[in-house]
Amino acid sequence: MEKIAIMSGKGGVGKTTVTLSLCNALLKEGYKVGVLDADLTGANIYNVLGKGEIDVAEDINMFLPAEVKLGNNNLQLMSLAHIIADGEPVLWEDLDFASAAQQLLEKTKWDKNTDFLLIDVAPGTPPENQVIITLMDSVLLVTLPSFLSDSNLIRSVELCREFKIPILGVVNNLTHYECSKCGNIDYIFESKASWIEDYNLNVIWNLPIKKEIAKRGYFDTLSLTEFHKSRKSPTLLKPTDPVFKRKAVKFALKNIRITKVMKGAIKAKELFVGK
Ligand SMILES: Nc1ncnc2c1ncn2[C@@H]1O[C@H](COP(=O)(O)OP(=O)(O)O)[C@@H](O)[C@H]1O
Ligand SMILES: [Mg+2]
Repeated sequence: MEKIAIMSGKGGVGKTTVTLSLCNALLKEGYKVGVLDADLTGANIYNVLGKGEIDVAEDINMFLPAEVKLGNNNLQLMSLAHIIADGEPVLWEDLDFASAAQQLLEKTKWDKNTDFLLIDVAPGTPPENQVIITLMDSVLLVTLPSFLSDSNLIRSVELCREFKIPILGVVNNLTHYECSKCGNIDYIFESKASWIEDYNLNVIWNLPIKKEIAKRGYFDTLSLTEFHKSRKSPTLLKPTDPVFKRKAVKFALKNIRITKVMKGAIKAKELFVGK
């Protein structure tokens, strides 16, 4: 079972859409796919696929994932939304998000013939993502070509480097809009995301913004050529890779002085976790 996390620097850039689109394309090629919605506070894959029925195998103390349909095919789905009531906030007092995500992954009894397990994770680099990615074969990054999204994604790239997790490549979502009336194409964002080249990463898909995708929740006709190519040689960033940005950050930190802002942050930390 090949495990792939779908990660982004920010929320709302299309992780869930890409997870479902990739899942759909793999199902169409005849693979067996499981999906774990590990965006613990924002699990919403079930909104597109339906919840199905999960069960608990009490003898072995495992969750049996829900069987749900995507197009004409079946997949297995598991998420925190299957365990808590609809609309209930994830506010559990002592919830350790990292171990909750790990348990959802490891305590779910996925079909033994599953070829791919796709994990839709939370935005950014919270503790649960740090745990999840160490359990992955690779990571697929999703961004949109805006400098706000890009600058956050670099942190996710660096997290993969830190934990030596291979990166399949980058999906650029919402790259352009094609007018359904006149066919005019507008590129909404202007950023060129040059760092994708700096890091030697492959672009798997450039996806337009489309009304029917917003409605349906996934792309129905994606080619897997680049995806399969990248699986054969994912990018493994090594600590010594000469990437300018990383060096620049280190340099900046070495020369920084404690400013008012940092003093404020230290104060806040004392308030929350004690001195
Ligand atoms: N290429 C696209 N075209 C149209 N709508 C999109 C596209 N990508 C994402 N969306 C819509 O934007 C919203 C956010 O996307 P989503 O996949 O939920 O992002 P994330 O999982 O990263 O938070 C959703 O309503 C989704 O349907
Ligand atoms: Mg999502």
